[in-house]
Amino acid sequence: MGHPDKFLLAGVMGWPVMHSRSPALHNYWFQRYHLAGTYLPLAIRPEGLEAALRALAPLGFAGCNLTIPHKEQALRIVDHADERARKIGAISCVSVNADGSLTGTNNDWYGFIENLREAFPGWRADAAPCVVMGAGGGSRAVVDALTHAGAKDIRLINRTAERAQLLARDLGGPVTCLRWEERHAALEGAGLLVNTTSQGMVGNPPLDLKLDALPTNAVVYDIIYIPGETPLLRDARLRGNPTLNGLGMLLHQGRPAWKGWFGLDVEVTQELRKLIEDSL
Ligand code: ATR
Repeated sequence: MGHPDKFLLAGVMGWPVMHSRSPALHNYWFQRYHLAGTYLPLAIRPEGLEAALRALAPLGFAGCNLTIPHKEQALRIVDHADERARKIGAISCVSVNADGSLTGTNNDWYGFIENLREAFPGWRADAAPCVVMGAGGGSRAVVDALTHAGAKDIRLINRTAERAQLLARDLGGPVTCLRWEERHAALEGAGLLVNTTSQGMVGNPPLDLKLDALPTNAVVYDIIYIPGETPLLRDARLRGNPTLNGLGMLLHQGRPAWKGWFGLDVEVTQELRKLIEDSL
């Protein structure tokens, strides 16, 4: 390569951040497309988030991703955010505009639905009820994605019922909140079950959910990717359900980020998937 006049910069702000697989993901794309640039893990304390975001423009960054615990606070700092991000109540990505102002977007919903469509091209949101477990930030992106994909019946179940009701109120859509005690029976007739709770993540106990009522053709999707197969996904696989973990969601949410930062359409290749899988 000669001497390009601009070194491309982006990164992920989190606290902690060193566990993030985003640098490996995005640096793969710099290499694959032979671009001079880099993507950095940026360890930013919550109290330093505003200063860090405002430093992106003078430092020449195209933008950044946001991870725990910054997604909600960052929405309040950026100059512009699209309607979906506002509804979801969080941003996962910031782009620096030509005038130095900051635009926030939420790409998690996109990663969620693209991963599902890629893995199961025949899946239809409106074919059968969708059951979503959990009502945190991940759930808000998932419910929004399913609503926009045409779901007609979303059964939302959270341990803390008020949080589910708040989500349903903020997002609108065809959402029915069910009580935690109803979770096993709520699987009756479903075409999709999504876990967005932290249960089943490495270090946490499994999600307490009996799958008996779930049709065996329903897709079971856990947005967790460490471990690659949660106890929920294992149980589902053993009874014959098609399953999907959250790794593809992470990979796919990077694509609109690149479009926004560098104007490029990047690809989620098998090689990339293997690179990140091997790093887990
Ligand atoms: P995120 O933004 O990643 O979705 P979060 O906002 O902390 O994370 O949400 C975590 C989700 O896991 C919530 O739905 C939470 O339920 P509560 O709202 O009742 O806290 C759910 N969760 C956490 N621990 C749980 C447990 N032991 N049993 C069931 N659900 C649990």
